[in-house]
Amino acid sequence: MAGGYAPLMRPLGYCRRMRLEQSHRTERFGAVRIHELQRVLQLDSGDATGSTSEGIVSQAAMRAIERQMVIVIPCMNETRRVIEGVLSGIPHDCLIVLVSNSARHPVDRYDMEAQTLEQHCRATERPAVMVHQRDPGLAAAFKAAGMPELIDDAGLVRAGKGEAMLIGMAVAALTGRKYIGYIDADNYVPGAVHEYVKVYAAGLHLAANPYAMVRISWHSKPKLRDGRLFFSRRGRSSEITNEFLNRLVAEYSGFGTEVIATGNAGEHALSLDLGLRMRLAGGFAVEPFEFVELFEQFGGILDTAHPEVMTSSVPVLQVETRNPHFHDNKGEDHVQGMRMQALNVLYHSPVSLPPVRQAILDFMVAQQALAPGEEPPRERIYPPVGSLDLDLLRDVLESEAGTFRQLGTRSLVAQPRSRPEWPEHHVVVSG
Ligand code: GDD
Repeated sequence: MAGGYAPLMRPLGYCRRMRLEQSHRTERFGAVRIHELQRVLQLDSGDATGSTSEGIVSQAAMRAIERQMVIVIPCMNETRRVIEGVLSGIPHDCLIVLVSNSARHPVDRYDMEAQTLEQHCRATERPAVMVHQRDPGLAAAFKAAGMPELIDDAGLVRAGKGEAMLIGMAVAALTGRKYIGYIDADNYVPGAVHEYVKVYAAGLHLAANPYAMVRISWHSKPKLRDGRLFFSRRGRSSEITNEFLNRLVAEYSGFGTEVIATGNAGEHALSLDLGLRMRLAGGFAVEPFEFVELFEQFGGILDTAHPEVMTSSVPVLQVETRNPHFHDNKGEDHVQGMRMQALNVLYHSPVSLPPVRQAILDFMVAQQALAPGEEPPRERIYPPVGSLDLDLLRDVLESEAGTFRQLGTRSLVAQPRSRPEWPEHHVVVSG
């Protein structure tokens, strides 16, 4: 290139940065530190000098996390074009793991997803892993590795988003990477997907803690109302879940709070050091239960199996992103189901105090979701993925699961990470 252009060129090692609002206030629940919602101030703050203490995270720091991150995409019967868009938004260095529960008959939608992912990986020279949730070989792998609770009467892994997330976490543990993030397959805006993952990386870097979690609160959801676009600020399910989670926290502190803004956050990321120690709930109870599980295990109220986490603390960052969250609308019944699953896990938690439980009952009865005098049903709660025999899981998965595909590489799952120290299985409640 002509020498005259040199001053315009970026110096070697030039880094673009993301700038998040600083988080000044946190609410503590034992070792869990919930940070107040912080906004993305700039998706790209250019050359801005500044440090992490000012919320600025360099491209190099984000890439270091992305190289260690697995992005799990739970997918059930979403359209090919939308899936393609989602894949295009995931930063190149992240490893994609697609967990599908899509129909195989009369049209094999999983096969279509496999083609889409294969083409993406070939064109972009990146690897990926995929598996079908209802593959008998996957069920055999979980059974052999020590999680029979995940298997239904048909001998297959249960359907459900939480179950898909658990499978994704187990596969992530097999890759030896350090972080896991979740992205729904029905997101229409690749730019939003991209922003979520960048925020995961920036947040996990800022948290600077081996047991960290980052949860997304999207800025707005566009809807058509009377022929006009309306940008709604809150999710219909999140509003309720957040309200009761905040009540649960306030009941202990004696002070009202609105700190929890991401009770239902489908988009979130965490370190596997934390994730492998956590029990996960089935279905759509999965995200609200993550808060409940942190309170139960690390809230200082019940005994913990992991004193090392108690001494380190568990930061939970909540970040409001800039892109609109534009996804498939699955209807009012679906949202009501999600709300109730969240309230079921809150109601049955041993850290939920009587006034909160009563308020949940009153709400459910008022919603006609429960008859007076009835108890809310229990959701399925699975043991931590870290309690599995990961070597056995990998062996059975590779030998028996026909839908388990490792694209663009011979074996991505060759080096399972060492599992956390395990005293005893936690109590497992299933409904
Ligand atoms: N593999 C698998 N198995 N994927 C599933 C399953 C399942 O049983 N059920 C749903 N999915 C996939 C969907 O294809 C989609 O990509 C994603 O999981 C989310 O499911 P949706 O049914 O589209 O949920 P939603 O968009 O209404 O709700 C989302 O946002 C909520 C917060 O607003 C979900 O992420 C919720 O978990 C979240 O609480």
